[in-house]
Amino acid sequence: MAASSHLLPVLIGLVLAFSPPVEACDSSDKAALFNIKAAFSNPAEFSSWTDDTNCCSWKGVSCNKFIGDRVHILSFYNNNSGTLEGLSGPLPDALGDLPFLTFILFGNHPGIVSPLPPSLTRLRYLSSFSLRQTSLSGSIPPFLSQIHSLKLLDLSFNKFTGFIPPELSALPNLNALYLEGNQLVGSIPSSFGSFTKSPPPGLFLSQNMLSGDIPAEFGAADWVTVDLSHNELSGGANALFGANKALLSLDLSFNRFEFDLSPISFPINMTNLILNDNKIMGSIPVQINRLISLVKFNVSNNRLCGIIPAGPVTDKFDDTNFIGNKCLCRSQDSCF
Ligand SMILES: *[C@@H]1O[C@H](CO)[C@@H](O)[C@H](O)[C@H]1NC(C)=O
Ligand SMILES: *[C@@H]1O[C@H](CO)[C@@H](O)[C@H](O)[C@H]1NC(C)=O
Ligand SMILES: *[C@@H]1O[C@H](CO)[C@@H](O)[C@H](O)[C@H]1NC(C)=O
Repeated sequence: MAASSHLLPVLIGLVLAFSPPVEACDSSDKAALFNIKAAFSNPAEFSSWTDDTNCCSWKGVSCNKFIGDRVHILSFYNNNSGTLEGLSGPLPDALGDLPFLTFILFGNHPGIVSPLPPSLTRLRYLSSFSLRQTSLSGSIPPFLSQIHSLKLLDLSFNKFTGFIPPELSALPNLNALYLEGNQLVGSIPSSFGSFTKSPPPGLFLSQNMLSGDIPAEFGAADWVTVDLSHNELSGGANALFGANKALLSLDLSFNRFEFDLSPISFPINMTNLILNDNKIMGSIPVQINRLISLVKFNVSNNRLCGIIPAGPVTDKFDDTNFIGNKCLCRSQDSCF
């Protein structure tokens, strides 16, 4: 009894001595990360990235133990809370040398600039690529459409100019596309009506300078979430609607849409219908009162007329959602 209880620590010591070192980081991943650190000129953000430590524990880096501790997440959100100023320079080519990356986030780093490295197309498992609030400029590179694993592409609040690349509709797994807050021009690509994935991705194109009519192919697709607000889009939007469509959330506000609302049937499960600040005419259809899931509804600042059909839905929304129309009234003697 006494002898074995003395042996135990010795045994544990032997096991520890002969087990592999605590280093879990893959050596080629570590080399790629050092190249990334060097490309950003060894910023303070990466002060934990030192040769004598396991790269899986470095700030912003995560490894997946089920695939031999390969690096699968790089996440750098600069929340401005400390003294760090964020990263600056273009994204390094060496990102393409981390073959098991599934998630890349560089958020709120105004010092990050174009170009995006084409080496990103080598990342066969990349599912989420997010560069929110950086300073990427020029055209959105069409080569992003070659990263077929992408489920989320977020390039919002950058300085991109030019057209939306129609090639992005070739992304077969995309669940959400965020391009809002850039300076994109031209029309919505008609290829966006033929995303192979069903339903097509949630589409967030607000706060750009997009213009022209909604392409017929685009309107015909079975969208679930579309935000086209704060652009210069014009013409009709009738094709997006229809009682049997899957559409749940639509924001067309602050554009130049000009169409008659009266004949439209809305998809019955809609939660958001935001149409304010356009040139929409006609009257509000009676069917609106069947949309019991509606939580946001705004038709202010249009050219609507007639009596708002009273009912459980229209009663939920206060006057700020109806004001600024041509001759819209709650009742015969109560017009806005
Ligand atoms: C901001 O970053 C600091 C340091 O990384 C962290 O402790 C803090 O929780 C972050 N705050 C928010 C709001 O994310
Ligand atoms: C609306 O939602 C209900 C309940 O979730 C569902 O059964 C129905 O199929 C939906 N209708 C449409 C047109 O998507
Ligand atoms: C609806 O739109 C109008 C006009 O832009 C705006 O003033 C109002 O605040 C909006 N209502 C709500 C509830 O957001």
